[in-house]
Amino acid sequence: MKGTLRYLIGAAGPSGFGSNSTAEQVTEDCSSLISPHLTAIITGATSGIGAETARVLAKRGLRIVIPARDLKKAAEVKERIQKESPKSEIIVMDLDLSSFASVKRFCSAFLSLGLPLNILINNAGKFSDSLEFSEDKFEMTFATNYLGHFLLTEILLERMIETAAETGIEGRIINVSSIIHSWAKKEAFQFNDMVKPKSYNGTRAYAQSKLANILHAKEVARQLKAMNARVTINAVHPGIVKTGIIRDHKGLITDSVFFLASKLLKSTAQGASTTCHVALSPQLNGTSGKYFADCNESSCSVLANDEKEARKLWKQTRTLIYKRLCQPSSPKPV
Ligand SMILES: NC(=O)c1ccc[n+]([C@@H]2O[C@H](COP(=O)([O-])OP(=O)(O)OC[C@H]3O[C@@H](n4cnc5c(N)ncnc54)[C@H](OP(=O)(O)O)[C@@H]3O)[C@@H](O)[C@H]2O)c1
Repeated sequence: MKGTLRYLIGAAGPSGFGSNSTAEQVTEDCSSLISPHLTAIITGATSGIGAETARVLAKRGLRIVIPARDLKKAAEVKERIQKESPKSEIIVMDLDLSSFASVKRFCSAFLSLGLPLNILINNAGKFSDSLEFSEDKFEMTFATNYLGHFLLTEILLERMIETAAETGIEGRIINVSSIIHSWAKKEAFQFNDMVKPKSYNGTRAYAQSKLANILHAKEVARQLKAMNARVTINAVHPGIVKTGIIRDHKGLITDSVFFLASKLLKSTAQGASTTCHVALSPQLNGTSGKYFADCNESSCSVLANDEKEARKLWKQTRTLIYKRLCQPSSPKPV
């Protein structure tokens, strides 16, 4: 009750920001701290929260890489950003997160540019009403929201660790999750069922993929700490924003809920604020493995906090990916 009230009035939390804060507001004081060569990759930046995140981070002087499956849309976003911030450097590259081959191709192309990598924002997301399978024959929502980002992070991590060591600037990974992760039930959170479901429910698949995003952040944070790497990884809930992911869906969690909860909706500018805060705020130096909402650390579900579940999911995912890519399937020891 108290939390809902705080949300509705936009009360600031310990960070000094709250549900009403916009991405521009939370990054206003960060400009002087940003090295001109800071590079960020933002997935899903062709629309919604990702496009706003890219616009604001470019405005703050970051070099932005937009990997996209729709290059025309990405070029339009680039043009809009450069109209507003003419000096900004925006690189558009091809990536379909639902395909392991495409993720590998994107990573090779990015790494061959020889650029540093300071920030990786795993933001792209999909909500599918009906059962679809990816090119690799895995359930599409799980493949796009979780498996693709897992592989992307895995391949780019070395460059992030190197960049942080060379520059002394902490690298940051942000997994964009959702409060809906808490709808996922432990009994149904079974890896084999998630990759190849026997029965399908779109909301359940989405919730499970968003839970996997948090567990991924928690386990990778643990591994990075064990390696003393200067890279952090956190998960965020951006708030409920009427973007493409919602507009495309008529029915249960959309029309009625949105009608009743219209007061709870955030603007896109507000929806991008938690990601931007976690990406740039000096308050969060060294903070890793946490979950944020409304620009403040928040609590996630019991299942999302389960370390054993996080480690198990990481091992199962790594084994699946490497088996699919015909490479050694044993997880690296940490
Ligand atoms: N909106 C909300 O209320 C809300 C609430 C909680 C969490 N989230 C999370 O916030 C993130 C951003 O969502 P949004 O609301 O901004 O939705 P959106 O406007 O629909 O944006 C989704 C983005 O993901 C990209 N994408 C989807 N499938 C992809 C694929 N296979 N390969 C590469 N890119 C792909 C889309 O690219 P295309 O342009 O090619 O489609 C688009 O750029 C998502 O992770 C979502 O789960 C949103």
